Amino acid sequence: MSLSRLTRFQNHRILPLPLLRPPTSQYQFVVLPNLRSHQNSKLLSQNPKRVFRSSSSFSSVTVAAAGKPDTRTLTTEASFSAPKMVKAIRVYEHGGPEVLKWEDIEIGEPKEGEVRVRNKAIGLNFIDVYFRKGAYKPPALPFTPGMEAVGVVTAVGPGLTGRKVGDIVAYAGQPMGSYAEEQILPADKVVPVPPSIDPVIGASIMLKGMTTHFLLRRCFKVESGHTILVHAAAGGVGTLLCQWANALGATVIGTVSNKEKAAQAKENGCHHVIIYTEEDFVARVNEITSGNGVEVVYDSVGKDTLQGSLSCLKLRGYLVNFGQSSGAPDPVPLSALAPKSLFLTRPSLMQYVVTRDELLESAGEVFANIASGVLKVRVNHTYPLSEAAKAHADLESRKTSGSVVLIP
Ligand SMILES: NC(=O)c1ccc[n+]([C@@H]2O[C@H](COP(=O)([O-])OP(=O)(O)OC[C@H]3O[C@@H](n4cnc5c(N)ncnc54)[C@H](OP(=O)(O)O)[C@@H]3O)[C@@H](O)[C@H]2O)c1
Repeated sequence: MSLSRLTRFQNHRILPLPLLRPPTSQYQFVVLPNLRSHQNSKLLSQNPKRVFRSSSSFSSVTVAAAGKPDTRTLTTEASFSAPKMVKAIRVYEHGGPEVLKWEDIEIGEPKEGEVRVRNKAIGLNFIDVYFRKGAYKPPALPFTPGMEAVGVVTAVGPGLTGRKVGDIVAYAGQPMGSYAEEQILPADKVVPVPPSIDPVIGASIMLKGMTTHFLLRRCFKVESGHTILVHAAAGGVGTLLCQWANALGATVIGTVSNKEKAAQAKENGCHHVIIYTEEDFVARVNEITSGNGVEVVYDSVGKDTLQGSLSCLKLRGYLVNFGQSSGAPDPVPLSALAPKSLFLTRPSLMQYVVTRDELLESAGEVFANIASGVLKVRVNHTYPLSEAAKAHADLESRKTSGSVVLIP
Protein backbone atom coordinates (compact mmCIF):
# COMPACT_ATOMS: atom_id res chain seq x y z
CA MET A 1 0.00 0.00 0.00
CA SER A 2 1.58 3.29 -1.05
CA LEU A 3 1.90 6.17 1.36
CA SER A 4 -0.51 8.26 -0.71
CA ARG A 5 -2.97 5.40 -0.44
CA LEU A 6 -2.32 5.19 3.27
CA THR A 7 -3.11 8.84 3.69
CA ARG A 8 -6.59 8.16 2.38
CA PHE A 9 -7.06 5.08 4.55
CA GLN A 10 -10.71 5.02 5.57
CA ASN A 11 -11.06 8.78 5.15
CA HIS A 12 -8.65 9.41 8.01
CA ARG A 13 -5.66 11.67 7.84
CA ILE A 14 -2.43 9.85 8.63
CA LEU A 15 0.42 11.84 10.08
CA PRO A 16 3.92 10.45 10.61
CA LEU A 17 5.25 11.41 14.04
CA PRO A 18 8.21 13.44 12.90
CA LEU A 19 9.79 14.01 16.34
CA LEU A 20 9.90 10.35 17.20
CA ARG A 21 12.48 8.17 15.51
CA PRO A 22 10.69 5.10 14.15
CA PRO A 23 12.18 1.64 14.56
CA THR A 24 14.08 0.64 11.43
CA SER A 25 11.67 -2.08 10.34
CA GLN A 26 8.50 -0.29 11.33
CA TYR A 27 6.96 3.10 10.78
CA GLN A 28 4.57 4.44 13.33
CA PHE A 29 1.69 6.62 12.17
CA VAL A 30 -1.02 8.30 14.09
CA VAL A 31 -4.35 8.14 12.34
CA LEU A 32 -6.60 10.91 13.41
CA PRO A 33 -10.24 11.28 12.59
CA ASN A 34 -11.01 13.41 9.62
CA LEU A 35 -10.10 16.70 11.25
CA ARG A 36 -9.06 19.66 9.16
CA SER A 37 -5.29 19.53 8.61
CA HIS A 38 -4.62 22.63 10.73
CA GLN A 39 -6.41 20.93 13.65
CA ASN A 40 -4.16 17.88 13.32
CA SER A 41 -0.98 19.96 13.03
CA LYS A 42 -1.97 22.02 16.04
CA LEU A 43 -2.61 18.91 18.09
CA LEU A 44 0.74 17.39 17.21
CA SER A 45 2.75 20.59 17.55
CA GLN A 46 1.28 21.17 21.00
CA ASN A 47 2.68 17.95 22.38
CA PRO A 48 3.39 15.10 20.01
CA LYS A 49 4.86 12.95 22.79
CA ARG A 50 1.65 13.21 24.75
CA VAL A 51 -0.25 12.03 21.71
CA PHE A 52 2.18 9.13 21.36
CA ARG A 53 2.29 8.22 25.06
CA SER A 54 -1.45 7.92 25.21
CA SER A 55 -1.17 5.20 22.60
CA SER A 56 -2.59 2.59 24.96
CA SER A 57 -5.94 3.97 23.92
CA PHE A 58 -4.97 3.44 20.28
CA SER A 59 -5.67 0.36 18.23
CA SER A 60 -2.96 -0.72 15.82
CA VAL A 61 -3.34 -2.09 12.31
CA THR A 62 -0.34 -3.58 10.57
CA VAL A 63 -0.25 -3.23 6.81
CA ALA A 64 2.24 -4.40 4.22
CA ALA A 65 4.12 -1.64 2.44
CA ALA A 66 3.86 -1.96 -1.33
CA GLY A 67 6.73 -3.97 -2.79
CA LYS A 68 8.66 -4.01 0.49
CA PRO A 69 9.20 -6.79 2.98
CA ASP A 70 8.63 -4.50 5.97
CA THR A 71 5.33 -3.68 7.58
CA ARG A 72 3.93 -0.42 8.79
CA THR A 73 1.85 -0.02 11.85
CA LEU A 74 -1.18 2.21 11.61
CA THR A 75 -2.45 3.42 14.92
CA THR A 76 -6.01 4.60 15.24
CA GLU A 77 -7.16 6.85 18.04
CA ALA A 78 -10.03 5.14 19.78
CA SER A 79 -10.64 7.95 22.24
CA PHE A 80 -11.53 10.38 19.41
CA SER A 81 -15.02 9.11 18.71
CA ALA A 82 -13.96 7.95 15.24
CA PRO A 83 -16.74 7.72 12.69
CA LYS A 84 -18.43 4.31 12.74
CA MET A 85 -17.46 2.32 9.67
CA VAL A 86 -19.44 -0.59 8.23
CA LYS A 87 -19.10 -2.72 5.13
CA ALA A 88 -21.51 -2.00 2.30
CA ILE A 89 -22.00 -2.35 -1.43
CA ARG A 90 -21.47 0.91 -3.34
CA VAL A 91 -22.27 1.81 -6.93
CA TYR A 92 -20.20 4.61 -8.51
CA GLU A 93 -21.38 4.18 -12.08
CA HIS A 94 -24.24 2.36 -13.77
CA GLY A 95 -23.45 -0.92 -15.46
CA GLY A 96 -23.26 -4.68 -15.05
CA PRO A 97 -22.97 -6.59 -11.76
CA GLU A 98 -19.24 -5.69 -11.64
CA VAL A 99 -20.10 -2.09 -10.62
CA LEU A 100 -21.21 -3.41 -7.21
CA LYS A 101 -18.19 -2.63 -4.98
CA TRP A 102 -17.65 -4.00 -1.47
CA GLU A 103 -16.37 -1.12 0.64
CA ASP A 104 -16.16 0.56 4.02
CA ILE A 105 -18.64 3.37 4.47
CA GLU A 106 -19.14 5.77 7.32
CA ILE A 107 -22.42 5.49 9.19
CA GLY A 108 -23.53 8.19 11.56
CA GLU A 109 -25.74 8.22 14.60
CA PRO A 110 -29.52 8.20 14.17
CA LYS A 111 -31.09 11.62 14.34
CA GLU A 112 -34.53 12.55 15.60
CA GLY A 113 -37.10 10.10 14.23
CA GLU A 114 -34.46 7.62 13.08
CA VAL A 115 -33.08 4.24 14.15
CA ARG A 116 -29.84 2.49 13.33
CA VAL A 117 -30.33 -1.16 12.33
CA ARG A 118 -27.74 -3.93 12.04
CA ASN A 119 -29.03 -6.02 9.16
CA LYS A 120 -29.33 -9.76 9.65
CA ALA A 121 -30.68 -10.57 6.18
CA ILE A 122 -31.27 -8.47 3.07
CA GLY A 123 -33.78 -9.22 0.33
CA LEU A 124 -32.60 -9.05 -3.28
CA ASN A 125 -35.17 -7.58 -5.65
CA PHE A 126 -35.25 -7.01 -9.38
CA ILE A 127 -35.64 -3.30 -8.71
CA ASP A 128 -32.04 -3.36 -7.40
CA VAL A 129 -30.98 -4.36 -10.91
CA TYR A 130 -32.91 -1.46 -12.49
CA PHE A 131 -31.18 1.03 -10.18
CA ARG A 132 -27.77 -0.55 -10.76
CA LYS A 133 -28.19 -0.36 -14.53
CA GLY A 134 -29.63 3.16 -14.43
CA ALA A 135 -33.02 2.10 -15.86
CA TYR A 136 -34.39 3.70 -12.67
CA LYS A 137 -32.51 6.77 -11.46
CA PRO A 138 -31.03 6.61 -7.94
CA PRO A 139 -31.11 9.84 -5.88
CA ALA A 140 -27.35 10.26 -6.43
CA LEU A 141 -24.12 8.52 -7.42
CA PRO A 142 -22.45 6.83 -5.61
CA PHE A 143 -25.22 5.02 -3.80
CA THR A 144 -25.80 1.90 -1.72
CA PRO A 145 -28.51 -0.27 -3.33
CA GLY A 146 -31.13 -2.39 -1.60
CA MET A 147 -34.71 -1.84 -0.50
CA GLU A 148 -35.50 -4.65 1.92
CA ALA A 149 -33.97 -6.03 5.10
CA VAL A 150 -34.54 -7.43 8.56
CA GLY A 151 -32.22 -6.43 11.38
CA VAL A 152 -31.80 -5.52 15.00
CA VAL A 153 -32.05 -1.94 16.24
CA THR A 154 -28.64 -0.84 17.57
CA ALA A 155 -29.40 2.82 18.35
CA VAL A 156 -32.42 5.11 18.45
CA GLY A 157 -32.51 8.83 17.71
CA PRO A 158 -33.04 11.42 20.44
CA GLY A 159 -36.52 11.47 21.91
CA LEU A 160 -37.76 8.50 19.94
CA THR A 161 -40.39 6.36 21.64
CA GLY A 162 -41.91 3.10 20.50
CA ARG A 163 -38.62 1.62 19.25
CA LYS A 164 -35.75 0.39 21.39
CA VAL A 165 -32.32 -1.14 21.03
CA GLY A 166 -32.68 -4.89 20.47
CA ASP A 167 -35.99 -4.71 18.55
CA ILE A 168 -36.10 -6.92 15.47
CA VAL A 169 -37.51 -4.85 12.63
CA ALA A 170 -38.10 -5.11 8.91
CA TYR A 171 -38.43 -2.54 6.17
CA ALA A 172 -39.15 -2.49 2.46
CA GLY A 173 -39.01 0.35 -0.03
CA GLN A 174 -37.48 3.77 0.53
CA PRO A 175 -34.92 4.80 1.56
CA MET A 176 -32.57 2.77 -0.56
CA GLY A 177 -29.45 1.40 1.14
CA SER A 178 -30.05 -2.04 2.64
CA TYR A 179 -26.91 -3.61 1.05
CA ALA A 180 -24.97 -2.68 4.19
CA GLU A 181 -24.04 -4.25 7.50
CA GLU A 182 -25.84 -1.38 9.23
CA GLN A 183 -28.06 1.44 8.04
CA ILE A 184 -29.99 4.39 9.40
CA LEU A 185 -33.74 4.28 8.76
CA PRO A 186 -36.70 6.51 9.48
CA ALA A 187 -38.43 4.86 12.46
CA ASP A 188 -41.83 5.19 10.78
CA LYS A 189 -40.65 3.02 7.85
CA VAL A 190 -39.77 -0.02 9.96
CA VAL A 191 -42.22 -2.59 11.27
CA PRO A 192 -41.74 -5.03 14.13
CA VAL A 193 -41.15 -8.60 13.05
CA PRO A 194 -43.12 -11.27 14.93
CA PRO A 195 -40.76 -13.54 16.92
CA SER A 196 -42.01 -16.57 14.96
CA ILE A 197 -40.58 -15.16 11.70
CA ASP A 198 -36.95 -15.99 10.99
CA PRO A 199 -34.99 -12.91 9.77
CA VAL A 200 -34.08 -14.65 6.51
CA ILE A 201 -37.77 -15.38 5.84
CA GLY A 202 -38.69 -11.82 6.84
CA ALA A 203 -36.13 -10.31 4.48
CA SER A 204 -37.34 -12.49 1.64
CA ILE A 205 -40.97 -11.54 2.06
CA MET A 206 -41.35 -7.89 3.04
CA LEU A 207 -41.11 -6.16 -0.32
CA LYS A 208 -42.31 -9.10 -2.38
CA GLY A 209 -45.09 -9.97 0.07
CA MET A 210 -46.42 -6.41 0.38
CA THR A 211 -46.28 -6.14 -3.42
CA THR A 212 -48.35 -9.30 -3.67
CA HIS A 213 -50.79 -7.86 -1.14
CA PHE A 214 -51.47 -4.65 -3.04
CA LEU A 215 -51.60 -6.43 -6.41
CA LEU A 216 -54.19 -9.01 -5.32
CA ARG A 217 -56.18 -7.08 -2.75
CA ARG A 218 -56.14 -3.44 -3.88
CA CYS A 219 -54.97 -2.92 -7.46
CA PHE A 220 -57.38 -5.53 -8.70
CA LYS A 221 -59.37 -7.50 -6.13
CA VAL A 222 -59.00 -11.19 -6.97
CA GLU A 223 -61.98 -13.30 -5.93
CA SER A 224 -63.08 -16.88 -6.05
CA GLY A 225 -64.17 -17.73 -9.61
CA HIS A 226 -61.67 -15.40 -11.31
CA THR A 227 -59.11 -16.74 -13.73
CA ILE A 228 -55.79 -14.93 -13.59
CA LEU A 229 -52.50 -15.03 -15.52
CA VAL A 230 -49.20 -14.60 -13.64
CA HIS A 231 -45.95 -14.25 -15.59
CA ALA A 232 -42.66 -15.49 -14.06
CA ALA A 233 -44.74 -17.69 -11.75
CA ALA A 234 -41.71 -19.28 -10.07
CA GLY A 235 -39.93 -15.97 -9.36
CA GLY A 236 -39.85 -14.10 -6.07
CA VAL A 237 -43.10 -12.14 -6.41
CA GLY A 238 -44.60 -14.71 -8.81
CA THR A 239 -44.33 -17.48 -6.21
CA LEU A 240 -46.27 -15.47 -3.64
CA LEU A 241 -48.85 -14.23 -6.17
CA CYS A 242 -49.71 -17.79 -7.20
CA GLN A 243 -49.90 -19.11 -3.62
CA TRP A 244 -52.08 -16.24 -2.40
CA ALA A 245 -54.35 -16.15 -5.47
CA ASN A 246 -54.90 -19.90 -5.21
CA ALA A 247 -55.89 -19.46 -1.55
CA LEU A 248 -58.37 -16.76 -2.63
CA GLY A 249 -60.08 -19.31 -4.86
CA ALA A 250 -58.87 -18.09 -8.26
CA THR A 251 -57.89 -20.32 -11.15
CA VAL A 252 -54.22 -19.52 -11.64
CA ILE A 253 -52.36 -19.77 -14.95
CA GLY A 254 -48.61 -19.26 -14.62
CA THR A 255 -45.84 -18.80 -17.17
CA VAL A 256 -42.20 -19.87 -16.63
CA SER A 257 -39.10 -20.39 -18.75
CA ASN A 258 -38.22 -24.02 -18.06
CA LYS A 259 -39.36 -27.38 -16.66
CA GLU A 260 -37.78 -26.97 -13.21
CA LYS A 261 -39.57 -23.68 -12.76
CA ALA A 262 -42.76 -25.28 -14.11
CA ALA A 263 -42.62 -27.84 -11.29
CA GLN A 264 -42.20 -25.05 -8.74
CA ALA A 265 -45.06 -23.05 -10.26
CA LYS A 266 -47.30 -26.11 -9.88
CA GLU A 267 -46.29 -26.38 -6.23
CA ASN A 268 -47.02 -22.67 -5.90
CA GLY A 269 -50.65 -23.38 -6.71
CA CYS A 270 -50.81 -22.82 -10.46
CA HIS A 271 -53.61 -24.83 -12.01
CA HIS A 272 -52.04 -24.47 -15.46
CA VAL A 273 -48.39 -23.82 -16.26
CA ILE A 274 -47.17 -22.55 -19.63
CA ILE A 275 -43.49 -22.69 -20.59
CA TYR A 276 -43.54 -19.41 -22.50
CA THR A 277 -40.07 -19.96 -23.98
CA GLU A 278 -41.45 -23.01 -25.82
CA GLU A 279 -45.19 -22.36 -26.18
CA ASP A 280 -47.27 -19.43 -27.47
CA PHE A 281 -48.75 -18.29 -24.17
CA VAL A 282 -51.59 -16.32 -25.82
CA ALA A 283 -52.78 -19.38 -27.73
CA ARG A 284 -52.51 -21.53 -24.59
CA VAL A 285 -54.49 -19.07 -22.44
CA ASN A 286 -57.12 -18.93 -25.14
CA GLU A 287 -57.32 -22.71 -25.09
CA ILE A 288 -57.41 -23.01 -21.28
CA THR A 289 -60.17 -20.37 -20.96
CA SER A 290 -62.15 -21.64 -23.97
CA GLY A 291 -61.60 -18.32 -25.70
CA ASN A 292 -62.92 -16.19 -22.83
CA GLY A 293 -59.65 -14.81 -21.59
CA VAL A 294 -58.68 -13.93 -18.01
CA GLU A 295 -59.95 -11.27 -15.61
CA VAL A 296 -56.45 -9.98 -14.88
CA VAL A 297 -52.87 -10.41 -16.04
CA TYR A 298 -50.06 -9.69 -13.58
CA ASP A 299 -47.21 -8.86 -15.94
CA SER A 300 -43.77 -8.12 -14.47
CA VAL A 301 -41.82 -9.21 -17.55
CA GLY A 302 -42.72 -6.17 -19.67
CA LYS A 303 -41.16 -5.93 -23.09
CA ASP A 304 -41.42 -9.58 -24.13
CA THR A 305 -44.95 -10.22 -22.85
CA LEU A 306 -47.03 -7.03 -22.60
CA GLN A 307 -48.62 -7.15 -26.06
CA GLY A 308 -49.52 -10.80 -25.59
CA SER A 309 -50.88 -10.07 -22.12
CA LEU A 310 -53.38 -7.58 -23.61
CA SER A 311 -54.61 -10.29 -25.95
CA CYS A 312 -55.22 -12.69 -23.02
CA LEU A 313 -57.79 -10.42 -21.31
CA LYS A 314 -61.52 -10.91 -21.33
CA LEU A 315 -63.95 -7.99 -21.79
CA ARG A 316 -63.23 -5.23 -19.24
CA GLY A 317 -60.16 -7.14 -18.04
CA TYR A 318 -57.23 -5.61 -16.13
CA LEU A 319 -53.65 -5.51 -17.32
CA VAL A 320 -51.42 -4.87 -14.33
CA ASN A 321 -47.88 -4.18 -15.55
CA PHE A 322 -45.79 -4.00 -12.40
CA GLY A 323 -42.29 -4.67 -13.70
CA GLN A 324 -40.04 -5.01 -16.72
CA SER A 325 -37.55 -7.79 -16.14
CA SER A 326 -37.15 -8.28 -19.92
CA GLY A 327 -36.94 -4.52 -20.59
CA ALA A 328 -39.25 -1.52 -20.83
CA PRO A 329 -42.38 -2.44 -22.79
CA ASP A 330 -43.38 -0.59 -25.94
CA PRO A 331 -46.00 2.10 -25.36
CA VAL A 332 -49.61 0.93 -25.50
CA PRO A 333 -51.89 3.31 -27.42
CA LEU A 334 -55.20 4.07 -25.69
CA SER A 335 -56.92 2.82 -28.82
CA ALA A 336 -55.59 -0.70 -28.05
CA LEU A 337 -57.77 -0.76 -24.93
CA ALA A 338 -60.98 0.24 -26.69
CA PRO A 339 -62.11 -2.99 -28.40
CA LYS A 340 -62.53 -4.80 -25.04
CA SER A 341 -62.87 -1.73 -22.75
CA LEU A 342 -59.70 -2.83 -20.95
CA PHE A 343 -58.00 -1.31 -17.91
CA LEU A 344 -54.27 -0.78 -17.84
CA THR A 345 -52.30 0.22 -14.76
CA ARG A 346 -48.59 0.53 -13.92
CA PRO A 347 -48.54 0.42 -10.11
CA SER A 348 -45.70 0.63 -7.60
CA LEU A 349 -45.63 -0.57 -4.01
CA MET A 350 -44.43 2.86 -2.87
CA GLN A 351 -47.81 4.39 -3.75
CA TYR A 352 -49.67 1.68 -1.83
CA VAL A 353 -47.83 1.99 1.48
CA VAL A 354 -47.79 5.77 1.76
CA THR A 355 -49.22 6.06 5.25
CA ARG A 356 -48.09 4.27 8.39
CA ASP A 357 -51.52 2.57 8.60
CA GLU A 358 -51.17 1.24 5.04
CA LEU A 359 -47.69 -0.07 5.83
CA LEU A 360 -48.77 -1.82 9.02
CA GLU A 361 -51.85 -3.30 7.42
CA SER A 362 -49.92 -4.62 4.45
CA ALA A 363 -47.04 -6.08 6.51
CA GLY A 364 -49.59 -7.50 8.98
CA GLU A 365 -51.45 -9.37 6.22
CA VAL A 366 -48.19 -10.78 4.90
CA PHE A 367 -47.05 -12.00 8.33
CA ALA A 368 -50.52 -13.45 9.00
CA ASN A 369 -50.42 -15.32 5.71
CA ILE A 370 -47.06 -16.83 6.60
CA ALA A 371 -48.39 -17.88 9.99
CA SER A 372 -51.50 -19.46 8.47
CA GLY A 373 -49.49 -21.31 5.81
CA VAL A 374 -51.06 -19.49 2.83
CA LEU A 375 -47.58 -18.24 1.93
CA LYS A 376 -44.82 -20.86 1.89
CA VAL A 377 -41.71 -18.82 1.48
CA ARG A 378 -39.08 -20.24 -0.82
CA VAL A 379 -35.65 -18.86 -0.04
CA ASN A 380 -33.96 -20.81 -2.82
CA HIS A 381 -30.71 -18.83 -2.84
CA THR A 382 -28.56 -17.08 -0.23
CA TYR A 383 -25.29 -15.26 -0.93
CA PRO A 384 -22.88 -13.39 1.31
CA LEU A 385 -23.59 -9.67 0.94
CA SER A 386 -20.01 -9.22 -0.33
CA GLU A 387 -21.02 -11.41 -3.31
CA ALA A 388 -24.00 -9.28 -4.32
CA ALA A 389 -22.55 -9.05 -7.85
CA LYS A 390 -22.88 -12.82 -8.28
CA ALA A 391 -26.44 -12.70 -6.93
CA HIS A 392 -27.34 -9.94 -9.42
CA ALA A 393 -25.81 -11.87 -12.31
CA ASP A 394 -27.81 -14.98 -11.41
CA LEU A 395 -31.10 -13.06 -10.98
CA GLU A 396 -30.67 -11.27 -14.30
CA SER A 397 -29.82 -14.42 -16.20
CA ARG A 398 -33.01 -16.13 -14.96
CA LYS A 399 -31.03 -18.69 -12.94
CA THR A 400 -32.91 -18.01 -9.71
CA SER A 401 -36.36 -18.97 -8.52
CA GLY A 402 -38.25 -18.00 -5.40
CA SER A 403 -36.57 -15.43 -3.14
CA VAL A 404 -32.90 -14.49 -3.03
CA VAL A 405 -31.37 -13.27 0.25
CA LEU A 406 -28.02 -11.61 0.96
CA ILE A 407 -26.39 -12.27 4.33
CA PRO A 408 -24.13 -9.52 5.75
N1 LIG B 1 -44.20 -2.43 -9.03
C1 LIG B 1 -43.73 -2.82 -7.86
O1 LIG B 1 -44.01 -2.20 -6.83
C2 LIG B 1 -42.86 -4.04 -7.79
C3 LIG B 1 -42.46 -4.54 -6.54
C4 LIG B 1 -41.69 -5.70 -6.52
C5 LIG B 1 -41.31 -6.32 -7.69
N2 LIG B 1 -41.70 -5.78 -8.87
C6 LIG B 1 -41.33 -6.43 -10.14
O2 LIG B 1 -41.71 -7.79 -10.07
C7 LIG B 1 -40.84 -8.54 -10.91
C8 LIG B 1 -40.33 -9.72 -10.14
O3 LIG B 1 -39.40 -9.29 -9.18
P1 LIG B 1 -38.55 -10.35 -8.34
O4 LIG B 1 -37.56 -9.56 -7.55
O5 LIG B 1 -39.47 -11.27 -7.67
O6 LIG B 1 -37.75 -11.12 -9.52
P2 LIG B 1 -37.99 -12.59 -10.06
O7 LIG B 1 -39.39 -12.74 -10.55
O8 LIG B 1 -37.51 -13.57 -9.08
O9 LIG B 1 -36.98 -12.61 -11.29
C9 LIG B 1 -37.37 -12.14 -12.55
C10 LIG B 1 -37.95 -13.27 -13.41
O10 LIG B 1 -38.47 -12.67 -14.59
C11 LIG B 1 -38.46 -13.62 -15.62
N3 LIG B 1 -37.91 -13.04 -16.85
C12 LIG B 1 -38.54 -13.05 -18.02
N4 LIG B 1 -37.78 -12.48 -18.96
C13 LIG B 1 -36.64 -12.12 -18.37
C14 LIG B 1 -35.46 -11.51 -18.85
N5 LIG B 1 -35.30 -11.15 -20.13
N6 LIG B 1 -34.47 -11.26 -17.98
C15 LIG B 1 -34.59 -11.62 -16.70
N7 LIG B 1 -35.70 -12.19 -16.18
C16 LIG B 1 -36.72 -12.46 -17.03
C17 LIG B 1 -37.58 -14.80 -15.14
O11 LIG B 1 -38.45 -15.88 -14.84
P3 LIG B 1 -38.58 -17.04 -15.98
O12 LIG B 1 -37.19 -17.63 -16.09
O13 LIG B 1 -39.56 -18.00 -15.43
O14 LIG B 1 -39.02 -16.35 -17.22
C18 LIG B 1 -36.92 -14.27 -13.89
O15 LIG B 1 -36.64 -15.30 -12.98
C19 LIG B 1 -39.76 -7.59 -11.40
O16 LIG B 1 -40.10 -7.17 -12.71
C20 LIG B 1 -39.87 -6.44 -10.44
O17 LIG B 1 -39.45 -5.24 -11.00
C21 LIG B 1 -42.45 -4.66 -8.93
